[in-house]
Amino acid sequence: MDSMQGRRVVITGATSGIGREIATMLATHGAELVLACRDVGRGEQTARDISRSTHAADMAVIPIDVSSRDSIRLFVREYRDRFSGLDVLIINAGIIRSGRETSVDGIELTFATNVLGYFLLTLELLDVLKAETAARIVNVASSYASEPDFDDLQFEQRPYDGMQAYASRKAAIDCSPGHLRGASERLASLRMPWHPGWS
Ligand SMILES: NC(=O)c1ccc[n+]([C@@H]2O[C@H](COP(=O)([O-])OP(=O)(O)OC[C@H]3O[C@@H](n4cnc5c(N)ncnc54)[C@H](OP(=O)(O)O)[C@@H]3O)[C@@H](O)[C@H]2O)c1
Repeated sequence: MDSMQGRRVVITGATSGIGREIATMLATHGAELVLACRDVGRGEQTARDISRSTHAADMAVIPIDVSSRDSIRLFVREYRDRFSGLDVLIINAGIIRSGRETSVDGIELTFATNVLGYFLLTLELLDVLKAETAARIVNVASSYASEPDFDDLQFEQRPYDGMQAYASRKAAIDCSPGHLRGASERLASLRMPWHPGWS
């Protein structure tokens, strides 16, 4: 990996799994990290652990629940208050559920978290990203993606199947460059779906 010195990265879901590994790797290469975490206590513990293992100093924690529209907007407001410009947005937080649950906005939870949250956070940060010449948006996708049922996106008319729900949400992430193109041709071309273990 090239040096990330002087580059600011927002990453969601850095408290465990793949997100935590990405954050640790980026800190090792000098990135200034903003950990966007659902649980601030876990986020701060993660920041301390990463700082200790990498000797990285530049790390902030800002709360976000990516399944909630209000929480995403509060995150963006705090980000704008504290920082200007953003080099890389990594949208990694994702879930799979065995039973149907709904978000605080009343939307099926994997759809709210893995799809709508991705879009809203990206759109709310677009102008901040645009300020940077080599901005990147990385969406953590999955090779498990499969075609959604557009007539029943939220599993309201058929029994809930967690794996099917997860796969269709990940397919939506693969589709999103087309949706972003209307907002920004340049950013759409800079956006990268990333499939863990594949690319
Ligand atoms: N693991 C795999 O084999 C695999 C393969 C392909 C793709 N992926 C994708 O890679 C990404 C990470 O997966 P993982 O296996 O590393 O998952 P994980 O270990 O379960 O971690 C998920 C992260 O997302 C956060 N999160 C969940 N819901 C959130 C919400 N509403 N708001 C904010 N943060 C939230 C969790 O925070 P808390 O600490 O608060 O729970 C946690 O930090 C996901 O998008 C997943 O679909 C994983």
